[in-house]
Amino acid sequence: MVLGDYSSKKSDDFCEDVCGQGSRVGTRLRCIIRGLDVKTWMTLLVVLPLLTLGIYLHYQKVTYFLRPLWESPPKPFNVLPHYYQENVSMEHQCRLHGWGVRETPRRVFDAVLFNNEVEMLKIRWRELSPYVDEFVLLESNSTFTGLIKPFIFQRNKDKFEFVKSRLTYGRLGGRFRKGENPFVEEAYQRVAVDRLLKVAGIKDDDLLIMSDVDEIPSGHTVDLLRWCDDIPPVLHLQLRNYLYSYEFYQDNGSWRASVHRYQQGKTRYTHYRQSDLLLADSGWHCSFCFRRISEFVFKMRAYSHSDRIRFLHFLNPKRIQDVICQGADLFDMLPEEYTFRELIGKMGNIPHSHSAVHLPAYLLNHADEYKYLLPGNCVRESE
Ligand SMILES: *[C@@H]1O[C@H](CO)[C@@H](O)[C@H](O)[C@H]1NC(C)=O
Ligand SMILES: *[C@@H]1O[C@H](CO)[C@@H](O)[C@H](O)[C@H]1NC(C)=O
Ligand SMILES: *[C@@H]1O[C@H](CO)[C@@H](O)[C@H](O)[C@H]1NC(C)=O
Repeated sequence: MVLGDYSSKKSDDFCEDVCGQGSRVGTRLRCIIRGLDVKTWMTLLVVLPLLTLGIYLHYQKVTYFLRPLWESPPKPFNVLPHYYQENVSMEHQCRLHGWGVRETPRRVFDAVLFNNEVEMLKIRWRELSPYVDEFVLLESNSTFTGLIKPFIFQRNKDKFEFVKSRLTYGRLGGRFRKGENPFVEEAYQRVAVDRLLKVAGIKDDDLLIMSDVDEIPSGHTVDLLRWCDDIPPVLHLQLRNYLYSYEFYQDNGSWRASVHRYQQGKTRYTHYRQSDLLLADSGWHCSFCFRRISEFVFKMRAYSHSDRIRFLHFLNPKRIQDVICQGADLFDMLPEEYTFRELIGKMGNIPHSHSAVHLPAYLLNHADEYKYLLPGNCVRESE
């Protein structure tokens, strides 16, 4: 007992002697380490590996959470106010936007790269049908991630009889390069759309809608743009973002869809930012709005961010169903935001909405067929 007391006192003294005088770092560290008791050691040994594992498992979350520190927001868009009411004449609508009205409307081309969104395509084409002169659809038997897929549109062609006379349909053989960045295959397919547009007979000053199948411009917006003169050569469309169905309204931040006054040799079919102008409240972007769970799985594996499937259980149908009904994230990720205020504001699940006002007309007119896209029906049908 006495001996123990003595020796511990001795080592304390040693440390005070050496450490107190601000000696070499090595010795000082040894003193600190010696000062820690067993309990602290155990805690460190448990906490450090857990912390490391935590960061490893949630690497994406950690980096996204810190995003406002390492990335500054893109230049803000110049948002153009958008005016619409059924009973306002086209001439007056154009004037409200600062444009003149034309004697005849421009021709309108709607071009999409099709993956597997059969139902969304139907809602899209029904919404746009009264205003579109030529529909252009390209599908490949390769997903962006290089997986083989059937020509799904081809199989469902009979559902689209109503556009048959106005459809230019193209099929593209995939390149199936292993381990390649998915954005390369995507770019390859987009160039093929450019070629298909020429086949469809697009001419200068025709209106071209560039957007993914699930980015649906409202019909009245397209009508406005085809009838008004002096509209900008390239205009992005601000769409309302929804997830899984029109029950989960996320935000108004969708901007990738765009409308172009076509210029031979200049206009390219892309999905990135091509101008600073954004027309407000111009339609709907419903991501992952599928009828069947199997389609969720397919899309998760096929699209350009399939690296987000960090764990196989992400593809488990029961989990996917639960995530949908909670309005949670399929990849368990944080929102991509550039300020802490927005990031924290958007963390957590998307609240259920009870509004089905201002949705595509075809959807409401066929509500029985599209229950799963409307409020109160998050449970998907069995396969
Ligand atoms: C819209 O115009 C029509 C015909 O001019 C008229 O019958 C109708 O009452 C108007 N609706 C509204 C909401 O003003
Ligand atoms: C993909 O489609 C092209 C063109 O139709 C065809 O030649 C090719 O064999 C298909 N590839 C696969 C793997 O099905
Ligand atoms: C879009 O939403 C943001 C954040 O909720 C809001 O500040 C902004 O005014 C909205 N923009 C338009 C054009 O509705």
